[in-house]
Amino acid sequence: MSDLKKIRDEFISKLKGKLTLAELNQIKSDLFGKNGLVSSQFKKIGTIDASERKKFASDLNIIKDELHDLIILKINEIEKANINEKLEKEKIDVTLPERSFVRGKIHPVSQTIDEISSIFSEIGFSVEEGPDVENEYNNFTALNTPDNHPARDMHDTFYLDEKKKRLLRTHTSPVQIRTMLKDKPPFKIIAPGRTYRSDSDQTHSPMFHQVEGLHIDKNINMGHLKGCLNYFIKEFFEVKKIKMRFRPSHFPFTEPSAEVDIGYEIKDGKIIIGEGDQWLEILGCGMVHPNVLKNVKVDPAKFQGYAFGIGIDRLAMLKYGINDLRAFFDCDYRWLNHFGFDPLDVPTNYRGLSR
Ligand code: DAH
Repeated sequence: MSDLKKIRDEFISKLKGKLTLAELNQIKSDLFGKNGLVSSQFKKIGTIDASERKKFASDLNIIKDELHDLIILKINEIEKANINEKLEKEKIDVTLPERSFVRGKIHPVSQTIDEISSIFSEIGFSVEEGPDVENEYNNFTALNTPDNHPARDMHDTFYLDEKKKRLLRTHTSPVQIRTMLKDKPPFKIIAPGRTYRSDSDQTHSPMFHQVEGLHIDKNINMGHLKGCLNYFIKEFFEVKKIKMRFRPSHFPFTEPSAEVDIGYEIKDGKIIIGEGDQWLEILGCGMVHPNVLKNVKVDPAKFQGYAFGIGIDRLAMLKYGINDLRAFFDCDYRWLNHFGFDPLDVPTNYRGLSR
């Protein structure tokens, strides 16, 4: 039997057996690799007697094609079988019921901050932010609150070090200072954010939210303050008329200072804002104290203006009929589902909330 026939018969019988992909690749290289059996036969062609060379070459080519085709066929068969096996294993059962999913809600405080920001932005206020961890200077001293001033105790401050230099801000007013230190007047900003005081009951939580307002320019007076707050309250509560009163008060950073009450009444167990003869305190405000302006290098002889601080949680409770402040921060999903807002209800200036 010729060498060629031997090679052919041996490998045809090998290829008929059950082979893995690796074994097939091995056979392929045994035959057709650089020093493979078939490749070596090709190298022999030149040494063969001229009378037999043509037949040898032709036989060799036939055997080469036959073995090669058989190997490719086998490889394809195995690959196909592998794919089928995988498809079988990963079969998707389209009859399975879909998994239930929970849609997130916007927290009423976030919704209220968005509403407040959009109302003030309509009349030219921009939004500023400051850190929750403040220094004592921005939170008190620069705001004209000297070391021994009772306001420092009044605020029940959470101090973060023994020297009482770092603290959790007790109000959003330090953002006034940060804003005026980094820019030149005029200023027209609001600053919503978290604030902290050591206080907890049905209407107080150790962490709560305020929005600060500040408007400083060359000719700003209390009339502007009244006009601005009147506009805001009407827009916020979506009423045409609002009863409002300014009660003289005291804050170290304003002079004169006032607290603002709005009129309300209870009708059929519901609170109606803007009418009636009951009063509800909702914010503190005043004309910025000249000392505060001096502390941030703004000349009080040239610039003056007003500031205000509003409790956001309080406003949200009033507008959305929520009667326990603590529920805001309980993280009870059922509560949020009930009082929360659909993302699509959000005003267009909505800037994002981690969801
Ligand atoms: N910071 C004050 C507080 O937390 C609120 C406040 C009152 C802010 C008067 C002001 C203001 O800017 O002018 O009670």
